Amino acid sequence: MENKIINGNSIEEMNKLPEGSVDLIFADPPYWMRVDGSLKRYEGTAFDGCMDKWDRFETLAEYEAFTREWLTACYRILKPNGSIWVIGGMQCIYTIGSIMQQIGYWLINDVVWYKKNPTPNFRGSRLNNSHETLIWATKSRDAKFTFNYKTAKELNTDTVTEEEYSEGVRKQLGSVWKMATCTGSERLRDKSDNKLHTTQKPEELLYRIIAISSKYGDVVLDPFGGTMTTGAMAKKLGRRYIMIEREKKYCEYGKRRLERIKEENSDIARARLDEKPVRVSVKDMIKNGFLVEGEGFYFKNSREAVAKLDKSGKLLWNDQLLDMHLCAAMAKGVKAKRLNGFDHWYVLRDGKLKSIADVREEYRASL
Ligand SMILES: C[S@@+](CC[C@H](N)C(=O)[O-])C[C@H]1O[C@@H](n2cnc3c(N)ncnc32)[C@H](O)[C@@H]1O
Repeated sequence: MENKIINGNSIEEMNKLPEGSVDLIFADPPYWMRVDGSLKRYEGTAFDGCMDKWDRFETLAEYEAFTREWLTACYRILKPNGSIWVIGGMQCIYTIGSIMQQIGYWLINDVVWYKKNPTPNFRGSRLNNSHETLIWATKSRDAKFTFNYKTAKELNTDTVTEEEYSEGVRKQLGSVWKMATCTGSERLRDKSDNKLHTTQKPEELLYRIIAISSKYGDVVLDPFGGTMTTGAMAKKLGRRYIMIEREKKYCEYGKRRLERIKEENSDIARARLDEKPVRVSVKDMIKNGFLVEGEGFYFKNSREAVAKLDKSGKLLWNDQLLDMHLCAAMAKGVKAKRLNGFDHWYVLRDGKLKSIADVREEYRASL
């Protein structure tokens, strides 16, 4: 069932899948845009908005019933610790968010996708609609969902300038994401060179979502596959995918798109930045020759050793044997009871002070 495109109705197809079998769902459902007549650009040419038949519903009740049905099917197949992302515009996101909460989903975040290149409001009759909203949710409040925090930080180019980023500045990823809509060579075209799909999402958006909220090898499902952007980015990041799409044409183009995608072996794909470093003790470092019993421990600016390393891994300071965190706080005379010793202590190596944190990294690398 994995790494597959299913050509069918998403509700029926999801109902065939085993309960609790999917790690991550991304859903880009029909928005029910309610666009009537033809949209014209300033100069009078027709604009290719979303007027597709799959986006047509007669009444709000019909749209609500459809939304409830597919979100319920997603709820059943999602693993207890899995999570779901749903994207929508102002036309549908309030209906979707309300129904999600009625079903029992627990909302984690809503994200504003701020479009760098939005479609203008051609008539100038209201605000230019320059964002879409994503809801990120779990099945319950207690779900231990995947969040690759450091990977998210690494991918944050929204609140860090290009110059800062190149200098190594990384900031916590926020809930406003600045990305362009899908354009250029990324946009799939049909045989007549027209846009294949009116609402193809940018790869950057799916790449980020999958990288930060799933693990390598996880199963990612998209009930409204379209051009298969989700499958493409899942494959690139080494996740398994299940894509459902009702229109045969999109499935065919999507299949060819997926065949061209290669898996990347990157720190982002494997969430290597989020791997927990091996815990090591000072005693282990002495045992393996990275620290020496009896050697002096210094602060960054001290000329003489402040404390002495005992074979127990503790520090001898003023005739007291203390763990290095407590000792750092006491020897510095700060209010805090403990300071992280790895940030404060140094040892002499080749006549120069070297931080204990660096010595620990050398030890870790040797393991
Ligand atoms: C908003 S588009 C998804 C676009 C997609 N995210 C992409 O990047 O190309 C929604 C898609 O859902 C499909 N669709 C609508 N209702 C469906 C249903 N009940 N079952 C399966 N697919 C459906 C439509 O054919 C359309 O391609």
